[in-house]
Amino acid sequence: MRPPKTASWVRDIPSYKPGKAKEEIAKKYGIENPIKLASNENPLGPSPAALRAIDDYKSIVNLYPDTTSKELRTRAASFFKCKKEQIIAGNGSDEIIDLVCRAYIEPGNNVIIPECTFSYYSIASKACGASVTYAPMKDGLGIDIDSIVSGVNAQTKIVFLANPNNPTGLYLDFDSLSRLLELLPDQVLVLLDEAYGLFSRAGDFKSGLEFIGKDKRILVITTLSKSHGLAGLRVGFGIGDYSIIDSLNRIKPPFNVNILAQRAGIAALGDTLFLEKTLDTVWNGLDFLYSGLKSLGLEFLPSQTNFVLVKIGKNAKSVYNELLRQGIITRYMESYGLKEYIRISVGLPEENRTLINTMRRILV
Ligand SMILES: Cc1ncc(COP(=O)(O)O)c(C=O)c1O
Repeated sequence: MRPPKTASWVRDIPSYKPGKAKEEIAKKYGIENPIKLASNENPLGPSPAALRAIDDYKSIVNLYPDTTSKELRTRAASFFKCKKEQIIAGNGSDEIIDLVCRAYIEPGNNVIIPECTFSYYSIASKACGASVTYAPMKDGLGIDIDSIVSGVNAQTKIVFLANPNNPTGLYLDFDSLSRLLELLPDQVLVLLDEAYGLFSRAGDFKSGLEFIGKDKRILVITTLSKSHGLAGLRVGFGIGDYSIIDSLNRIKPPFNVNILAQRAGIAALGDTLFLEKTLDTVWNGLDFLYSGLKSLGLEFLPSQTNFVLVKIGKNAKSVYNELLRQGIITRYMESYGLKEYIRISVGLPEENRTLINTMRRILV
């Protein structure tokens, strides 16, 4: 018996490649406690307030959660300074990306995605039958507004933009973002992904939330996976015009954010101490990594995120593999077209120190 035929537009989609898990490396190389600096997770662990909420609510997981995540959205509205009706909560911000593609892409449509960015935009768009136009990056891997705009035609439905961007760590300043929005036609939904927005230290970075209530084409997405340490629970948000939120709500799976994720999300959003500690850890960690990488003679991109993209050179893959063997998991960037680069998430101070010392041993 032959298996049913997969939709033709799905057959050639390469699946998402996550960072390697600690358990896999522990088993393969016999290392007790590998250091994972591969998936931009929060090195401090989860917000303690979120952990307490999980404890408080674990006995009611026999019940369905609130399908509208109302309390979570109310808390998020006060955190992000908007109305709860302008927010949809998702099972991670990945789910919001999926919902946008499903709600907006029609047969024959295309989407524009910068060449070097988060790979799920392309997977989700292609899964809905869209063709993807990849906008070339500027020299130095920055987002090129003009190449995005020149890719737009009458069939373009969505422009994806991660700001700050993954995996480069670079950002678009507010004037450039405003100029891009001016140049894009009305029919285009701009998915502005601010998964790393809270980590930015750049004076001229501003959140796209500034446009909510003024520009009906923009959906800002954001996540509690990184800044609030809830990657494993999956809590993300889409924030935009009521009309976009209404469209996404029509097709979202019922009960999409589980009961513990909702309660932990509410608690984490109120845990300002944890957020402050996280930003401190990330910013000090980045500064430490910069000076360590400089002392090794390595080039890297200045980052507005919780990771740094490092140019290793022709031996990048072997350096990445050697780090794995020594129990440090980073991310080799070949699948992003960056064969000479690895991406390193900021860890705890002692993890960052171990990484730089290990790289020093490998590279000499
Ligand atoms: C730019 C970007 N957007 C979205 C996501 C997905 O985040 P979530 O865990 O909320 O699905 C990631 C995760 O790494 C990311 O880097």
